[in-house]
Amino acid sequence: METIPVQNFNLVIFGATGDLTRRKLLPALYLRDLAGQMPGDASIIGVARTDLGQDGFRQQAKEAIETFVDETHRDPERLAAFLNRLDYMSLDANAEDGWPDLAERLDHAQKTVCVFYLAVGPQFFGPICQRLKSVDLSGELCRLVVEKPLGRDLESATALNAEIAAVFDESRVYRIDHYLGKETVQNLLALRFANSMFEPLWNAAHIDHVQITVAETVGLEGRGSYYDAFGAMRDMVQNHLLQLLCLVAMEPPARIDADSVRDEKLKVLRSLRPIEPSEIASKTVRGRYEAGAVDASTVPSYKDEPGVPEDSKTETFVALKVEIDNWRWAGVPFYLRTGKRLPAKISEIVIHFHAIPHSIFAGNAGELVKNRLVVRLQPDEGIRMHLMTKDPGPGGLRLREASLNLSFADAFDERFPDAYERLLMDVVRGNPTLFMRRDEVEAAWKWSQSILTTWEENADQPKPYIAGTWGPSSAIALIERDGRTWHE
Ligand code: BG6
Repeated sequence: METIPVQNFNLVIFGATGDLTRRKLLPALYLRDLAGQMPGDASIIGVARTDLGQDGFRQQAKEAIETFVDETHRDPERLAAFLNRLDYMSLDANAEDGWPDLAERLDHAQKTVCVFYLAVGPQFFGPICQRLKSVDLSGELCRLVVEKPLGRDLESATALNAEIAAVFDESRVYRIDHYLGKETVQNLLALRFANSMFEPLWNAAHIDHVQITVAETVGLEGRGSYYDAFGAMRDMVQNHLLQLLCLVAMEPPARIDADSVRDEKLKVLRSLRPIEPSEIASKTVRGRYEAGAVDASTVPSYKDEPGVPEDSKTETFVALKVEIDNWRWAGVPFYLRTGKRLPAKISEIVIHFHAIPHSIFAGNAGELVKNRLVVRLQPDEGIRMHLMTKDPGPGGLRLREASLNLSFADAFDERFPDAYERLLMDVVRGNPTLFMRRDEVEAAWKWSQSILTTWEENADQPKPYIAGTWGPSSAIALIERDGRTWHE
């Protein structure tokens, strides 16, 4: 795979002792180094409050890479060289000590790109930005990366964005939605805009409806108190699922540059039809898992997970019927669903085309199943087109459904880089195309807000579903009421 080296950079990771750094950031950086993408002088400085020291951080990084990087990519010499890039500083966002040292260590970002990655809670975004500013680390060559949760509602998201904007110009703010860094999600852009055969069909005249499913088998993975304050709507729908919807629904951007792409996504978000309180019951379903079995292991109910309070009303499953009020999509529902403790980990987008207008075949030729295009984001990444074909053999013309299958694993030899590998290098390059702009995040919150508010005002508990099933029965009813079924 071709790798284009990036310019020299310093990366400062706030929250260096946290889970994201261990699981995602350090492994991704090591793999980029292994691929030859990092210039010789690039350095990574871990920052946290703990007094860990350089050796302690390097040891922690070594363990993280040995745990989370596949064995086939572990090379002791290259790992040692990577660890030599790492340094560590103990800093507190609420105290002045040490910040001037950081600025000196980075030469006040005079000549080298400096990336500040905030892998910390959003309550620290404002204070850290202010500290960086106070030691002159917010200039032209400085870039800020922030992770979700980017707020809990429209108001808090707007306030966070304002705190960031007080220090960093929007062009230097990179809001991560790791779904956008997934190879297969970017492939949606290739599918739609590098092929001529789909675009003429990509509208209400030919598409009956679209389904977007992001199903997980995992539960809370030790994040009980975070998750309970957010739930599936805030954790998955407001960001990942709406971003996927935008990539499917947006108009062709004029160019693949950051503003052209994000302008088009924003138009989609602003065209989403608000779900009114009176429509909540017919267009939304929220569920919560009960004890059950997933992957042949028994799992406890959500209420019995560590960190979940007694009186929790948080949902672990959401299904929605979403409509887009524009010319292209008028009358084409987008059904979205996501949940934890479902039977399989599957993310896919299914485009369901209309039925043929008139059948020339005999009544006993077999059922004419409507065409579907399935974009499988993970696992078994690929694209599958379900078509009607002639059932082989003599004795009349019978029809049978068959599929054209492009499996990425079979078609390409390369390893699929993790989303963070791509996104981190994009920040260094100064390319924000795959990051969310402020107005996008706020538009997504604005639309989600009306649903969240109605749910919160409602005394009902989320509908129960047994862990290891496809959510509450009302999620099936949501789509079947319209004479459609979820793609299995
Ligand atoms: C994160 C959510 O953003 O995405 C998690 O906070 C979720 O709750 C995860 O499990 C899913 O990501 P992926 O890449 O495993 O599909």
